[in-house]
Amino acid sequence: IPVDSFDLVLFGATGDLAGRKILPSLYRRFLAGQMPEDARVIGAARSEMDDDGFRDVVRAAIEEFVAKPMQDAGTIDAFLQQCSYIPIDAKGEGGWKELKKSVRDDVVKAFYFSVAPSIFGPLAQQLRNHGIACENSRLVVEKPFGTDLETAKKLNADLAASFDETQIYRIDHFLGKETVQNLMAVRFANVLFEPLWNERYVDHVQITVAETMGVGGRGSYYDKSGAMRDMVQNHLMQLLCLTAMEPPNQFEPDRLRDEKLKVIRALDPVPLKHVVRGQYKEGEHPSYVEDAENPESLTESFIALKVGISNWRWKNTPFYLRTGKRMSRRLSEIVVQFKEAPHSIFEKDDGSTANSLTIRLQPDEGIDLSVTIKEPGPGGMRLVNVPLDMTFADALGSEGADIPDAYERLIMDVIRGNQTLFMRGDEVEAAWAWTDPIIAAWEEKGDRPLPYSQGSTGPEEAQMLMHKDGRRWQHLE
Ligand code: BG6
Repeated sequence: IPVDSFDLVLFGATGDLAGRKILPSLYRRFLAGQMPEDARVIGAARSEMDDDGFRDVVRAAIEEFVAKPMQDAGTIDAFLQQCSYIPIDAKGEGGWKELKKSVRDDVVKAFYFSVAPSIFGPLAQQLRNHGIACENSRLVVEKPFGTDLETAKKLNADLAASFDETQIYRIDHFLGKETVQNLMAVRFANVLFEPLWNERYVDHVQITVAETMGVGGRGSYYDKSGAMRDMVQNHLMQLLCLTAMEPPNQFEPDRLRDEKLKVIRALDPVPLKHVVRGQYKEGEHPSYVEDAENPESLTESFIALKVGISNWRWKNTPFYLRTGKRMSRRLSEIVVQFKEAPHSIFEKDDGSTANSLTIRLQPDEGIDLSVTIKEPGPGGMRLVNVPLDMTFADALGSEGADIPDAYERLIMDVIRGNQTLFMRGDEVEAAWAWTDPIIAAWEEKGDRPLPYSQGSTGPEEAQMLMHKDGRRWQHLE
């Protein structure tokens, strides 16, 4: 179903994220028939270029980042006709008058800031001063949304000077991932799980986002950030919130975001003994410090944490989080590990009775419930854990296999005016308020990240974090 017509002004249109994600996603929505014929994508950046020059940039992005079977020459040409370009000087006068003339007032106006956060404020102000933004405009901002509580507050204040909170769409692209949305469907559209979803039945939750790539190419950004700021404060925090939150009474932006905020505010401070930081060593690829071009770097490319939530639902159920670069394989998942049955009528060594629910974000998006059954055969009551596996590609046929990129969903939500899958200002600030003291504690101590081998599961100490509690990480060897 096509969305309403729109003018999308993409600031940072020649940048890396625009090329890798935003422009290919817009093309895929165009291909799916969702982008109206008169909708327009207006690229804006510092480089001097005309419309045709920009169309070459967009074409190159599609050719590199859209799957070959989706690349149809006629469709690409038609899409490019809807793209144009205006060189803009974020802090000066260049380009603003042209932009004002170019955007229409009778369609949805969306301004997408895919630029360094330091120019969020100046851009927002220019849009207001030149009378380009109006009450119905929408503003999309990319991460990183600050580097700590203070900078996030400043960014929120800068944006609030020109835009209302209801107009601001802060992207956390994990929220656009199909399986992340499915987590809400599983929790709130089935009676099966909710009664068990608490400290009485859940032993612990583990959230893993492991990547095989390193930080080469983005070393200068990453070295100032590290896994805590780059992944935990935003992506893993969102996964934790959606797993832990109370059921909102409606699937409506502020109802959902209120519940997530309550979870963040209930997170316990994390002592350093519950944090393991690592840095990948030299191996098949260069080491972290080479990638970051900083031989003295104390930045972590891996982190594991044990996190407590102080509320009735989760008081005694720890959440273990881990994420890292150059790990053994690409795997993102949430495992809800249930407790053993309170009393077993079977022999002790007959096997475990503890169920687990795994929500696989990538690869092989799907949900997998492990249940205990009798091993077939005449050998007595031997118990075995088997998966009730719902891989979307198998369960839903071609629709399950054709999972849209998170950005496709999120950009269309902006045009529809739906903020449900975007972060609210107070949510981002609360996440920094929890993260800041943890970072401050290791900085104060001069803590050094532990070296780990490329292609591993991170430092051995991350395994110990679980073993000490009689638990173990799953699915990543
Ligand atoms: C980004 C981080 O936000 O998310 C990257 O900055 C990370 O470091 C990426 O690699 C992971 O996203 P995805 O969608 O590839 O899992």
